[in-house]
Amino acid sequence: MRKSPTHVRRSGSSASSTTSERRVIVNTRTQVVIVGAGPAGLLLGQLLLREGIEAIILERRSPEYVLGRIRAGVLEQGSVDVLDLVGVSARLHKEGLIHDGVEIGFRGARHRIAFKQLVGKTVTVYGQTEMTRDLMEARTAAGGASVYEAEDVTLHDWAGSPRVTYRKNGVTHEIACDFIAGCDGYHGVCRASVPADRYKKFEREYPFGWLGVLADVAPPWGELIYANSERGFALASLRSPTRVRCYVQCGVGERVEDWSDARFWSEFKLRIGVDVADEVTHAPSIEKSIAPLRSFVVEPLRFGRLFLAGDAAHIVPPTGAKGLNLAVSDVFFLSEALRDHYHEGGEQPLDQYSARCLRRIWKAERFSWWMTRQLHSFPGDAFARRMQETELEYLFDSRAAQTSMAENYVGLPLS
Ligand code: FAD
Ligand code: DHB
Repeated sequence: MRKSPTHVRRSGSSASSTTSERRVIVNTRTQVVIVGAGPAGLLLGQLLLREGIEAIILERRSPEYVLGRIRAGVLEQGSVDVLDLVGVSARLHKEGLIHDGVEIGFRGARHRIAFKQLVGKTVTVYGQTEMTRDLMEARTAAGGASVYEAEDVTLHDWAGSPRVTYRKNGVTHEIACDFIAGCDGYHGVCRASVPADRYKKFEREYPFGWLGVLADVAPPWGELIYANSERGFALASLRSPTRVRCYVQCGVGERVEDWSDARFWSEFKLRIGVDVADEVTHAPSIEKSIAPLRSFVVEPLRFGRLFLAGDAAHIVPPTGAKGLNLAVSDVFFLSEALRDHYHEGGEQPLDQYSARCLRRIWKAERFSWWMTRQLHSFPGDAFARRMQETELEYLFDSRAAQTSMAENYVGLPLS
């Protein structure tokens, strides 16, 4: 049985106090409260709209802040298919760049992994920022409810009759709902609301981070170059025919302020190779940031009426370009579980959510861990270095190994 969408105000504004903090409580009801308006939350909102399921999105930052975060750049075909499904891919198909392969730089040479030839699939280079902008615009056009700058989002009774409270402009709001979707990233409130003994945590930290630079200059490289150099990893990527995104491996404690543009480009050039890097290395940076590298998974992803999705449930090191793509597959699976629950009734579709996601999550964790191990330097571990050299030589010589890498990089099926 499908429950009818509800968005009724249970009680209007009630008693306010005269203190500096007004304490008006406004009550509302909806089917799903989505916490977080990153790619996971916004896409889930569109998927639910398509199924006629009502949701309210609560985001603690402003839209401008969300759009100012420079993150992922590579979409698997399966992610593009989900964006097609919700009708939010027109600009992506116009401006996204289809890539048939990537290159791996090692000992001064570059080796191509030809995805299309090996597994018949490609990836699309399209910034997470652009995808987020498209999703925000689609939600506004569809009249979906989103509250930005929602302070102090708090979950109540997520195991029974869930409610979510938040503050906006000094007014406290309470939303009663059937379900809560925790799409609020690694540092969010949803996972933190669950007692630690209710889940298992699997974690690995890496002894380095990625320093990233965005610059408005035409990329001289046609495809992404992942470089394993004696000085550390580097990645030459892009966002458009006029904008590059480049990364170098850096120490965990390093600060962006210590990396002038000149220092960044000189290091990047030494790692990627002067022949490719020379043309970009005078461009001023328009964004520069450091991201730590971590592998992290919680099990399960469902706690009563609360579901975790995206970075709230797992983190991959960025080397395999999987984080954004996993957020897409999680919310796709969650929308199917909620659809089946509302249309057919019963708990079974909801019960299967965790296991269905985790099968795909662990494969992406494995691949991202493998890419990270093969391409970064782990100082002081001579055995690891020999294994890395041997693994890369095997990859360059073996079509079977290249096929395995290609199959994972373009994305495993959303099944
Ligand atoms: P987020 O994007 O973190 O969104 C969570 C949202 O919740 C945020 O807007 C946050 O403000 C909000 N929020 C948090 N707490 C609260 C609260 N208490 N109340 C309300 N709202 C809250 N992935 C790829 O697939 N390919 C790549 O090429 C790639 N490259 C990357 C490069 C870098 C440098 C980094 C840092 C990441 C990269 N990733 C990549 C990973 C990808 O960006 C993330 O996996 C993705 O952003 C996850 O989306 P999300 O919606 O789950 O989480
Ligand atoms: C980008 C980021 C990644 O983590 C990756 O593996 C490839 C590209 C990027 O930001 O362009």
